[in-house]
Amino acid sequence: MKHWRVEQIAWDRFEPSKVDPEIIPLVKAAAMVERNGGDYAIYLKRVFKDDPDFSRAADHWAEEEIQHGDALGQWASLADPGWDYAAAFERYRNGYSIDINANASIRGSRTGELIARCIVETGTSSYYTALAEATEEPVLQQVCKLIAADEYRHFKLFYDHMKRYLAREDLSFARRLRVAFGRVGESEDDELAFAFHCANEGPGLAYSHDRCIAGYMGRAMGFYRPRHLERGMGMIFKAVGLEPRGRLSQIAARGAWRLLCWRRDRYRQALSRMAPAAPLAQAA
Ligand SMILES: [Fe+2]
Ligand SMILES: [Fe+2]
Repeated sequence: MKHWRVEQIAWDRFEPSKVDPEIIPLVKAAAMVERNGGDYAIYLKRVFKDDPDFSRAADHWAEEEIQHGDALGQWASLADPGWDYAAAFERYRNGYSIDINANASIRGSRTGELIARCIVETGTSSYYTALAEATEEPVLQQVCKLIAADEYRHFKLFYDHMKRYLAREDLSFARRLRVAFGRVGESEDDELAFAFHCANEGPGLAYSHDRCIAGYMGRAMGFYRPRHLERGMGMIFKAVGLEPRGRLSQIAARGAWRLLCWRRDRYRQALSRMAPAAPLAQAA
């Protein structure tokens, strides 16, 4: 059972004058990645093939991720009526795929796989919270709040299964930490960058990872505030087995905030070198 449905969103409350044009390309790109959740469920069910409880949960999870894509896609179609969600997603599907033929987790263990999933859900939960708080457009606010609540539930889902496997596999703290940091670093790989390309750039322009990740991150990073990183760091700490609200978590969150500001500015500089006239979100 899903917690909400796309039809329940108050689409008629859409206010075009309150749309920040810098948020539209992000919503379009996020719709691609979310809509692609079905493939990840196939992969997860192969990795956990003798675990019916988890397999059922993975199917349910993917249904919610796909719905996130559809809700974001529908909002982006309202904000930009000329945009074709289905065609953009088709391009994404044709050009990007994860390896679903795995018999074991690419993270080296089931515990590692579940920690990596916790990191992804931490990222999405923080991101949609940040977008919901940043936008003044009421429908996008509603969509992002609903999605952020789902992402937090997903974190808890993967965390609970992770604890079960941790008791069995006894993955060392160092390995848990390595998986978590590894997955954080992957956020700047092709998955999002190529989604940005398919959702926002014409077919005449060849894909460039550097251009597209700058297009995505230069905008997205501008919507975060320190409180989002504090909360996210607490979730990461919890996932690797550290005290989520302790002093170390606060220090790490402050460091992450400084790193984010530095990365954001670097991406923005890259963006302005590519297109000097392109407007960007207000600096935090
Ligand atoms: Fe999602
Ligand atoms: Fe999720």
